[in-house]
Order: sequence, then C-alpha cells, then structure tokens
Amino acid sequence: MTPEVTVCPGADALADAAAERIVALAAAAIGARGRFVLALSGGSTPRETYQRLGAPPLSARVPWARVHVVWGDERSVPPDDAASNYAMARRALLDRVPIPATQVHRIEGELDPALAAARYEAALRQLLGTPQGPPRRGPGAVIDLVLLGLGEDGHTASLFPGSAALGETGRWVVPVQAPVVPTSRVTLTPPVITAADEILFLVSGATKAGILGRVLDPAPRAPEVPARSVARAGNRVRWLVDAAAAAALI
Ligand code: 6PG
Repeated sequence: MTPEVTVCPGADALADAAAERIVALAAAAIGARGRFVLALSGGSTPRETYQRLGAPPLSARVPWARVHVVWGDERSVPPDDAASNYAMARRALLDRVPIPATQVHRIEGELDPALAAARYEAALRQLLGTPQGPPRRGPGAVIDLVLLGLGEDGHTASLFPGSAALGETGRWVVPVQAPVVPTSRVTLTPPVITAADEILFLVSGATKAGILGRVLDPAPRAPEVPARSVARAGNRVRWLVDAAAAAALI
C-alpha cells in the first residue's frame, strides 16, 4: 500500500495538522461507535500536538467523556519522572481536559517491567473486548488511532532494530531492553499496532531525514527497520512530516 505522506512547512504546522487529524478521527469514531481509543506516542515530537489538543479551540471540539487514552510504549520510570511518556502527556494534555481518570490507561512504569506489561495487556484486552488471542478487527475491538514517532535508527514505539519483540505474535505488550536510555521499557507489539484503524506517524526535524528516506523508500530493503515493517503492515497509515524531515524525499 502506498503510504499517505503530508509534508508540512515546519514543526508548528505539523502539530496543527496532527491535532486536527486527531479531532476529526475522534468525531468519526464517536459518531460511529460511541467512543475513541487513542494510543499516544512518547518522545518529544508529539508534545506540541498534545499542547494544541489540550487548549481551546481544539480541546472544546473533543467529547473527552467518550475518549480512552492508552500508550504505544512507556519507559520503566515512575509516572512523575521527566522521562515518563505518561508524565509528558499529563502536562501537555491530560491535566487540561475533562477526560475521566478511569479512561486514562497508563503503563505502570514504576512496576517491574514484566508485571507492568502483563497488567497493561490485561487492561487493553478488557478495553478492546478480546480476552485472549490476536487483536480482532471488529468495531470497538481495535485502537482507533495509534500515534507513532520515528527514531533515527528506525525504531517506533519501543520496537528497536533486532528486538525479539518485532517477531512477537502472541503477546500484545512486552518488556524490552532499549539501546538508549531509559533502557528498560514496555511496548505494544506489532500485531496490536498494525491492527489499529489508523496509524499516524509524526516525524519532525533534519535529523530524521535520512531514516525517513529509508523507511519510505519503495524499493525492498534489508535489513528491515521496525517503523518500515509496522508501516507496511498497517491498515491505514499516514505520515505527517515537516519539510526538514522530508529533505530526502523531495
Ligand atoms: C519513546 C517513543 C519513541 C519516539 C521516537 C522519536 O518512548 O521515546 O515511543 O518511539 O517516538 O524515539 O522520538 P522524538 O520524537 O523525541 O524524536
């Protein structure tokens, strides 16, 4: 499938476009199924998008009582740690909108990673009505939108090159050791991510130009990098990138 790539002039325009897309998908999901399940990405790129979502006018356009928030991955740190993906989302978005606390399903980074992964998988399976087996594609059985970033090595979520998690087909959530600090992490596995109704990659900055060119290169490549294999397996995959990141595409 040819990926849909939108090149925005800069990081601000990217954040605007991403926030608008999330608002539109929330309206569509809530209109069709009564709720919107959004998987947040970590890292720094999405922060500006979350800031926009958490402030008027966009924050008033989202029926937060119908939104469930989950995460693509988390670092094994406490929820108030500066490296926590949850902490970043709380500051930028969740503390500023009326989303019910019971609908914020964080990965418990303060726990032993294997335990945190097992607890998060159980919560996700309950939320999506799939107590066992692979993700189903039925209404309300998948995450409506998964936001993903792109690392310079081609990782996405906490799926890093060479990780055994890339081949995981049974578990939905696994603990991993990353090659970058914080090294201990918990991540969704490819089957859960690629089952999502839509995957939206947000990529910003000149440092990502090389890897983005590799990931979007239509020619078959070896070795495969995680973001490329995830993008190729996804149902509906969109890329929102800024001009600096797109330098190798033009
Ligand atoms: C994380 C993210 C990770 C991130 C990329 C890009 O927990 O760090 O899940 O996959 O999206 O590393 O990070 P930046 O947006 O900071 O470049």
